[in-house]
Amino acid sequence: MTMSAHPDSVRAKTALPFPPGFVWGAATAAFQVEGATAADGRTDSIWDVFARRPGAVVGGDTGEPGADHYRRYAEDVDLMRRLGLGAYRFSLSWPRIRPDGGAPNPAGLAFYDRLVDRLLEAGVEPWATLYHWDLPQSLEDEGGWTSRETAFRFADYAETIVARLGDRVTRWSTLNEPWCAAMLGYARGIHAPGRQEPRAAVAATHHLLLGHGLAMDVLRRHAPAASSGVTLNLYPVSAADPSSIVDTEAARRVDGLQNRLFLDPVLRGSYPSDLHTDLAPLGIDELVRDGDLETISAPIDWLGINYYRGYQVAGTPLPGSEPAGADWLGVPDVHFVPDEAAPRTDSGWEVQPSRLTECLLRVHREYRPIPLYITENGASYPDVVVGGDIADTDRIAFLDSHLRAAHEAIEAGVDLRGYFYWSLLDNFEWAEGYAKRFGLVHVDYATQRRTPKQSALWYARAISLNGLG
Ligand code: NOJ
Repeated sequence: MTMSAHPDSVRAKTALPFPPGFVWGAATAAFQVEGATAADGRTDSIWDVFARRPGAVVGGDTGEPGADHYRRYAEDVDLMRRLGLGAYRFSLSWPRIRPDGGAPNPAGLAFYDRLVDRLLEAGVEPWATLYHWDLPQSLEDEGGWTSRETAFRFADYAETIVARLGDRVTRWSTLNEPWCAAMLGYARGIHAPGRQEPRAAVAATHHLLLGHGLAMDVLRRHAPAASSGVTLNLYPVSAADPSSIVDTEAARRVDGLQNRLFLDPVLRGSYPSDLHTDLAPLGIDELVRDGDLETISAPIDWLGINYYRGYQVAGTPLPGSEPAGADWLGVPDVHFVPDEAAPRTDSGWEVQPSRLTECLLRVHREYRPIPLYITENGASYPDVVVGGDIADTDRIAFLDSHLRAAHEAIEAGVDLRGYFYWSLLDNFEWAEGYAKRFGLVHVDYATQRRTPKQSALWYARAISLNGLG
């Protein structure tokens, strides 16, 4: 695979050029790729413990072997270099860096030193995420994110990292998808720690956001030149029947609990007032203390958006509809209505590139001006290796259509500065285990052999053209 930058003569032929300096990256997360869950002093995270619970993860899969990135990081960075990636978004493992949430672990920190140095040598910019769902189990035993104290422990952990890597890492994200950490982990119970308590999910939401604000303060103090933000998973939500009051009301609530519950405190310094009726019985008022919202809304340099799909919702059950997220919070009568016309990925998710444009435009129009990055977008497909080749044409079509949708948003005035494909490597897809493959690069888990899929080569070409040819 030879993937060096194309000469200007080729660049001139790019039919759909992206703005100069556009960041082309790929993402992973510690628990999903590192493996080595007991190496060098690492202790259990909530995901290690949750994955051992019978039935929690498809196939009984765990964080082992992951993609063995902990040991094969140098090979992986070399792959990134050959693909021409400008940036690598990865997360740091809290239980590796501060086992049991306690004192810093030199061996754990040393791994990220090695990774970052290798990336810099290869000319790939490190984009580090402080929290991608792997809370030390010991802290969960003390209440996890339902405890206000966890936000302060998170800030301490952030300080340990930033003091160590802040001389070399200049792109930081505090949290990845706090909605998932709070709602799937504490209300729906399909993610670690597997609790099904709506009040706990609301407490987790507030404390994750508080942790974000406290970590931003750490970043400002210890890495003042860095460019930092937070990553939210946003889903455009529409009413199945826009003329129906029950459907538009359902859409308002789902959009509120999914998107605005996170966007508003971070970018406006308040929780959405229309959600108060839903959130008051779950204890929101008792959680928020004086000064919290100022902390949470401290300026960020950019917002990371993870986009996968949108939702149509109805206020009454319709054929084929399923209960929406709001049910886990005790908000009844909200249902997701499938988009029958849309193709689906192997995860069953509808492929809806135009809703990416909608999502970016919405943030651009309704919130204060802020640079945006697509910090995740990707698809799982049942990739098959045939004679050493993986012809993942469906993933190429996904990439192509979503990059076109992103370009459309830029043309409409959105300050979109980069795109990270999820994921660089096939990896542990949480409750779905290893069966769902999102990677640009195929991983044979028995041998840990890496094989770039055709999509990787397609993406490398887009990177080299800074656009679509
Ligand atoms: C969201 C998460 O950040 C990531 O960990 C996950 O694997 C992908 N999306 C795909 O579900």
